[in-house]
Amino acid sequence: MSDSTRRGLAGSGSGPTGDGAVRIRDLRVELGPRSARRTVLNGIDLDVSPGQVTGLAGESGSGKTMTGMAVMGLLPAGASVAGSIRFGETELLELSPRRLNAVRGNRIAMISQDPTSSLHPMLSIQRQLTDHYRAHTGASKADARDRALELLDLVQVPDPATALRKYPHQFSGGQLQRIAIASALMCRPTVLIADEPTTALDVTVQAGVLRLLRGLCDDLGLGVLLVTHDLGVMSALADTIAVMRGGRIVERGTRHQVITAPEHEYTRSLIAALPEHHRPADGKDPS
Ligand SMILES: Nc1ncnc2c1ncn2[C@@H]1O[C@H](COP(=O)(O)OP(=O)(O)O)[C@@H](O)[C@H]1O
Ligand SMILES: [Mg+2]
Repeated sequence: MSDSTRRGLAGSGSGPTGDGAVRIRDLRVELGPRSARRTVLNGIDLDVSPGQVTGLAGESGSGKTMTGMAVMGLLPAGASVAGSIRFGETELLELSPRRLNAVRGNRIAMISQDPTSSLHPMLSIQRQLTDHYRAHTGASKADARDRALELLDLVQVPDPATALRKYPHQFSGGQLQRIAIASALMCRPTVLIADEPTTALDVTVQAGVLRLLRGLCDDLGLGVLLVTHDLGVMSALADTIAVMRGGRIVERGTRHQVITAPEHEYTRSLIAALPEHHRPADGKDPS
């Protein structure tokens, strides 16, 4: 990785948004029609800090994706939200749509389980990576292309110049997820929300994408919120783990604490459900 990439991607550590961390406090979200209103997040406290992978685990429907969506300001229509989500000095829950737009996709970016959902099937990879970047930064076409090449190189897509001319259907799922990560990083976010980033990928390519996310975190100081139902993925990557159930965080700690000495019965049952080779039997740190 070049020094300019490193500098460029690390984002501004200071400035109007402060240290680039996300701090969620007592986040409550209700959804659904008036007759069947449901509390889907019930008092979430969570920090996503630069250079750290914060894991959010829990079974399907526990509220992991809604937590990420709340940070992105992308909750379903009709959602009511209370509590606080601070990004540095900025309270995201109080931002106007226009100001939130300037944060979302720029300072805080998101990738999802299905990389094709964030990539347009009819647009070249170059357009996907550069259009949003140019609109937000005013960069020239040539500068935007240079940055796209730099990012594709960073996420280890082979032959970036050729890749820019191709379309999504010409890539495998693993390569597409790398391209989606490159796209998410174009505007130099300080926080990346990765929602089940490897769930749809072949087991053989999962580890590579996880290593890439770890590297981005360690080398660039990116703060990663890793959302996954898979404690095996979690144990490979997260620095800290919060376990959700029914819209609440029921357990949290360092990866080592949560994986090797879970306190909550529910966490124990998630670990017991792991395939044999992921299960920490000897009490050693799984890294
Ligand atoms: N668009 C929606 N409208 C109403 N309820 C929703 C919507 N999306 C998700 N939910 C509900 O919110 C809860 C949390 O969902 P989600 O955050 O997607 O869970 P997870 O990501 O942990 O699987 C679930 O009970 C789900 O049914
Ligand atoms: Mg989800």
